[in-house]
Amino acid sequence: MIKKIKGIISAKITSFYWKNHRSITVRHKNEKGIERFAELYGKPTSVQGKGEALFLYTMAKKMQKVPGNYAECGVYKGFGAIFICENKGAKILHLFDTFNGFPTGQGKNDKKLSLKKYHQGSLAISLETVKKTLSSYKNLVYHTGVFSETCKEVENHKFAMVHIDFDMYESMKQAIEFFYPRINPGGIMILHDYRFFQGVQKAANEFFADKTETIICWNETQGIIFKARK
Ligand SMILES: C[S@@+](CC[C@H](N)C(=O)[O-])C[C@H]1O[C@@H](n2cnc3c(N)ncnc32)[C@H](O)[C@@H]1O
Repeated sequence: MIKKIKGIISAKITSFYWKNHRSITVRHKNEKGIERFAELYGKPTSVQGKGEALFLYTMAKKMQKVPGNYAECGVYKGFGAIFICENKGAKILHLFDTFNGFPTGQGKNDKKLSLKKYHQGSLAISLETVKKTLSSYKNLVYHTGVFSETCKEVENHKFAMVHIDFDMYESMKQAIEFFYPRINPGGIMILHDYRFFQGVQKAANEFFADKTETIICWNETQGIIFKARK
């Protein structure tokens, strides 16, 4: 009973907060946990640049106030997911990957800026290895297989934060189209490699051409979209 009342109060506070606060303040100087970030980033880790990893880490905390869960598309060794896991609180993080490498090679929209080395099967890593890397974190749900199939497992879910790191046009397009209507107002979509990979940029630019939101091209490579509030 007490738990239920606590739940109702907490939902009311979150909804009040979210209706009435339209800014996000980031004060890294005073932010608790910045030392933890340095500790995590100090390890030989991620394909994420330092600024990108810090942004994931920071937003994972800030987006706890938005209703809905978190997702990452393109997990690879799980080293980027660590920065989300570390600050996600009780949120469920849905992790999407084949865990068997890229399902296809580059398509015609991935020419030029995309890495030529990516072909079918590259970046293969076993699910067991990733689970071991993330074993200290709770509430992780693994969706193993090609995204166009595994996305069906969350079609009735709503999200607060989605990090998409699929590198290539077709998969990026599918993920952006799938998640956009499922992100709650005030939530965030983060697109890795937006600045550098032609396919990523094309997929995002095409999709957001007629949307209200602006894509912010962040330090290093991320494209960032905050879902508009009606
Ligand atoms: C660059 S890696 C992700 C890196 C990771 N986010 C990190 O921070 O370390 C891209 C991953 O996306 C996965 N991937 C690409 N397209 C996919 C698709 N359509 N369905 C499932 N996984 C896909 C690949 O298997 C690969 O592991």
